[in-house]
Amino acid sequence: HVTRREDYRAPDWTVPEIALDFDLDPVATRVRATLLVERSGAHDRPLVLNGDGLAAESVKVDGAEAEGWRMDGPDLVIPLAGDAHEIETVVTIAPERNTQLQGLYASSGMLCTQCEAEGFRRITFFPDRPDVLSKYKVRMAADKARFPVLLANGDPIAQGDAGDGRHWAEWHDPFPKPSYLFALVAGDLVANRGVFTTMRGRKVDLGIWVRAGDLPKTDHALHALKLSMAWDETVYGREYDLDVFNIVAVDDFNFGAMENKGLNVFNSRYILADPDTATDYDYDAIAAVVAHEYFHNWSGNRVTCRDWFQLSLKEGFTVFRDQSFSGDQGSKAVKRIEDVRGLRASQFPEDAGPLAHSVRPDEYIEISNFYTATIYNKGAEVIRMMSTILGREKFRAATDLYFDRFDGTAATCEDFVRCMEEAGGVDLTQFRRWYSQAGTPRVSANLAQEGGRARLRLAQTVPPTPGQPAKEPMVLPLRLKLFGGITGRPMCDEQLVLLKDAAHEMLFENLSEPPVLSINRGFSAPVIVETNRTAKDLAFLSAHDDDPFARYEAMQQLMLDTLVAAVTSGKGEHAAVIEAVRNTLLDSALDKAFVAEAVLLPSDSFIGDQMGMVDPDAIFAAREALRADLGTALESEWRAAYDGAQANRFEYSPAAKGARRLKTVALGYIAASGADDAAALAFGQFEAADNMTDRQGALTTLVNGNSDKREAALAAFYQRYQGNALVLDKWFQTQALSSRDDAAQAVEALAAHKDFTLANPNRARALIGAFSVNQRAFHDPSGRGYRFVADQLIALDRLNPQTAAKLVPPLGRWKRFDPARAARMRAELERIIATPGLSKDMFEQASKSLD
Ligand code: ARG
Ligand code: ZN
Repeated sequence: HVTRREDYRAPDWTVPEIALDFDLDPVATRVRATLLVERSGAHDRPLVLNGDGLAAESVKVDGAEAEGWRMDGPDLVIPLAGDAHEIETVVTIAPERNTQLQGLYASSGMLCTQCEAEGFRRITFFPDRPDVLSKYKVRMAADKARFPVLLANGDPIAQGDAGDGRHWAEWHDPFPKPSYLFALVAGDLVANRGVFTTMRGRKVDLGIWVRAGDLPKTDHALHALKLSMAWDETVYGREYDLDVFNIVAVDDFNFGAMENKGLNVFNSRYILADPDTATDYDYDAIAAVVAHEYFHNWSGNRVTCRDWFQLSLKEGFTVFRDQSFSGDQGSKAVKRIEDVRGLRASQFPEDAGPLAHSVRPDEYIEISNFYTATIYNKGAEVIRMMSTILGREKFRAATDLYFDRFDGTAATCEDFVRCMEEAGGVDLTQFRRWYSQAGTPRVSANLAQEGGRARLRLAQTVPPTPGQPAKEPMVLPLRLKLFGGITGRPMCDEQLVLLKDAAHEMLFENLSEPPVLSINRGFSAPVIVETNRTAKDLAFLSAHDDDPFARYEAMQQLMLDTLVAAVTSGKGEHAAVIEAVRNTLLDSALDKAFVAEAVLLPSDSFIGDQMGMVDPDAIFAAREALRADLGTALESEWRAAYDGAQANRFEYSPAAKGARRLKTVALGYIAASGADDAAALAFGQFEAADNMTDRQGALTTLVNGNSDKREAALAAFYQRYQGNALVLDKWFQTQALSSRDDAAQAVEALAAHKDFTLANPNRARALIGAFSVNQRAFHDPSGRGYRFVADQLIALDRLNPQTAAKLVPPLGRWKRFDPARAARMRAELERIIATPGLSKDMFEQASKSLD
């Protein structure tokens, strides 16, 4: 069954108020829901309450047994005579048996909820759609010993003893909200507490709730929360609105975290951190996700989505907000580089494959499948482009208008764009194509010198995507600048060019030297740019461009061109890359984090994305050859960088993070050089490390190698962190990403390890998700990688369709591979589709992947 955007109809019935009464128990939880319902408009349609696996034990209308109610599939249908009624239903659910982790479920002894997008209907009968906003009162009772802490949305109202070893608590949320923002948690939890005073002087009690043993790992998250609250006041003028803000960390969670009003629920990997167990990457991700969920309080909760086709309204905007926040905490340039690398690794392939969809999709079978890099990350780029076009002040005026006009309502992407137009004084008619057209635009930029003048020819095309064979030109904001190829001096101020037509020409006059083009600076548009720049131009920009992102980009392009040529011709011409990397390494004005990013080679899969047909073995060989040459030619520079990045004691600061990053990158190149002492150096770092970044960096180097230290390090790591699930995930993941020949075999063995389980999404992703992006291993010509992943996904689908379906896309890339591999990948997709009892989540992903 397909849901279409054009079929949207306002709700027949609204629910201004709901009271929920939970008798909590892992085996059988009784849920009594009392809804005040009101007919909306003039119609005689019955009340339809969504359910998913629920059986009504009692249905009352205005206090009396309801008459004439019926089930329509999973939904409850009640004919009603008047325009306003009180409806009461009672159901019993079994949290402990809920392996889907949607609705009310059990995780490590606690009970918690996840409702977005359509999980509330697994808890109680309700119009489970985001445009029905209600005020919630929640009462819950539970065993006092097992569940001493009882939390829900809003403010705590009352609590008491219920006798029989049970107790109860009541919470009220004064802000009307859609059902997907409902949450409750019951468990044996402790809180790291804090206070935040808002810009108008209101005190907010903060709590990060975890199991007792995890309390020492919550300071970073609490600190990030306070920074986020202050940032949203300063940058967007948004103040928090309740007296309490709680976050709970749970071990079993389908994605990162959830922005439930006043009660965020998090995957514990995005809360828990200390130097011994979390990498710098983890610390950064925790701050980013804490900020993301907090920012949703305005972009998502106060203003929510009219329907799920508008998902990017809250997700794209909130990702843009969290990216800006993170950029403000450290190096903006490095943050931008990381975000663009992420976009290219996940969104570009999505846009180029069978699951391509627009930022505002037109239809879905299962909405969970649309929590994608396109909705989130391309959506964020679309907001970023509007902020670039409007400029800082007008963009702020536009977001003020948006929050003001739509506060307390369920809005659309169109509403947002109209605020941008009104406050920005711009016409975004054509720009709206970013919401409707899928596919990554391609821009060609050719600069030709004609004496003292230069002509820049720009052209754009948008490739066909499923269901969208022909495309119209987009509005592409391109920041560009010219540099003198001899002096390195800028030849003009940076310009913001809005490319709107299929082709456009610009003339630059009075040039005293040959110009070099710097374009799409800061990655101002999420497009693929092809230029006629030579290796010499790129090397020049990698050393002289004054936009750090453009500098990084020039280096990446030089590396890519080199690698693609090597894959095609079978032999590599590495001198230009070696020279450029040497210059970057020796430039003492650059910060270490930037250097580490700039000298990193593009990934196997990104190299593959540049080629008509991906040859995983040839790509791997070409990349390893370049790595080895870089390692050997610059061995003394790598050693100097390595030694220069040593620190005395762990510290979480931008400078210390940058040093650690460069240190591990340098270690990797020293190992690539084949130096005799490389394994000893890595093992030394592994053993002496006082933090997880250094330890995991060393472990990765050892795991990719063949030294006798490899097994020792893996065993020591396992020994040390046994019982710490989040660190064991790293142990699985590092091996799944191994570049060794035996990776596929090793992963099959790890799937039988006693610590491997499909029941925990983090663990499933650490092994299966990581393995399927290990390009060479996954695409082993025998097809064993495909078979392994399909077997695991079929098994996982029986437990947790949402998490299984998210892991299908690597199998869907068959079109980009040779006929033998493509046939094997298709055969596995067909096997998945033929599985009896397959979920609609998996059916949608696998069947679309075959077309
Ligand atoms: N709204 C949450 C966030 O991005 C994620 C919810 C994901 N839900 C899903 N069904 N995949 O912050
Ligand atoms: Zn979000």
